[in-house]
Amino acid sequence: MSVRRASAFAPGSVGNVAIGFDILGFAVDAVGDRVSIERVRRPGVTISAVRGIAGELPRDPAQNTAGRALLAMHEALGLDFGLNLEIDKGIPLGSGLGGSAASAVAAVVAANALLGSPRPKLELLKFAMQGEAVSSGSLHVDNISPSLFGGLVLTVGIDHPRVKQIPVPGEVRAVIVHPHMVLSTREARAILKRSVEMSDFVWQTANLAGFISGCYTNDLDMIRACFEDVVIEPQRQALIPGFAAVRAAAISSGALGCSISGAGPTMFAWCLEHEAQRVCSEMIREFGRGGVEVDHWVVPVESQGARVIETA
Ligand code: HSE
Repeated sequence: MSVRRASAFAPGSVGNVAIGFDILGFAVDAVGDRVSIERVRRPGVTISAVRGIAGELPRDPAQNTAGRALLAMHEALGLDFGLNLEIDKGIPLGSGLGGSAASAVAAVVAANALLGSPRPKLELLKFAMQGEAVSSGSLHVDNISPSLFGGLVLTVGIDHPRVKQIPVPGEVRAVIVHPHMVLSTREARAILKRSVEMSDFVWQTANLAGFISGCYTNDLDMIRACFEDVVIEPQRQALIPGFAAVRAAAISSGALGCSISGAGPTMFAWCLEHEAQRVCSEMIREFGRGGVEVDHWVVPVESQGARVIETA
């Protein structure tokens, strides 16, 4: 019997991971969005409800990340039935935790469960990318890929994306600290310079290569040495009150590295499991010194990614 209704959960994510601007990200299972989709007779895509912590999102499917992803999927697959969706937002808007990507991913994963012949994740990725573009104004995959696949994910290419899940040393934990403020990804992208100094290009390339090789070879010293964004972070840090003090507190408490989650304002650190609580407390304390309230999580980097949680 065919599935009439399906719900999927997609986790939030930390984009860029300091050194992989627009191409590297990891999933954060502790937060996420849920999308429920019902098969309806009339072809097309409709949104009947947006609930949760970002209920003011547009209900016009073309203006909504989940809606746009489904429009792309509906058209590409030539579906002869319609899709009505309900969105439950668990990720704050403008937090830098990949909320728009999670909605788009949850939507395509739920819709996939309604198909007689489900599509592979790589194809779903392309549909979800169309949704992400609605909110940020650009096609980038560093949130979509980890939200869909789980764990630390490198994505190479846009038209024909190649996705690689990268192993992370087992004792690494991610500390996520979300200050209660909103930063638009679109604006945080608009301030970036269009060109990069040759010396910074070399440094950043070395850091990305070293970081990924450190992950594959369990080399924590290499990961620590390479955990520095010399291109994007210097331009964006002024957008986050207390950034320098929070980062310094994380590093002096033993973190392997600390940077901006995606476009911000959330900050994240990687650290060893036994140091994670201390790093987290110090980051919270520094935000607090500036009068900034936060939410915080300590999570493993490995995770399952988006999944169907209910079908009927
Ligand atoms: N990689 C993008 C950026 C999106 O930093 O602008 C992050 O969520």
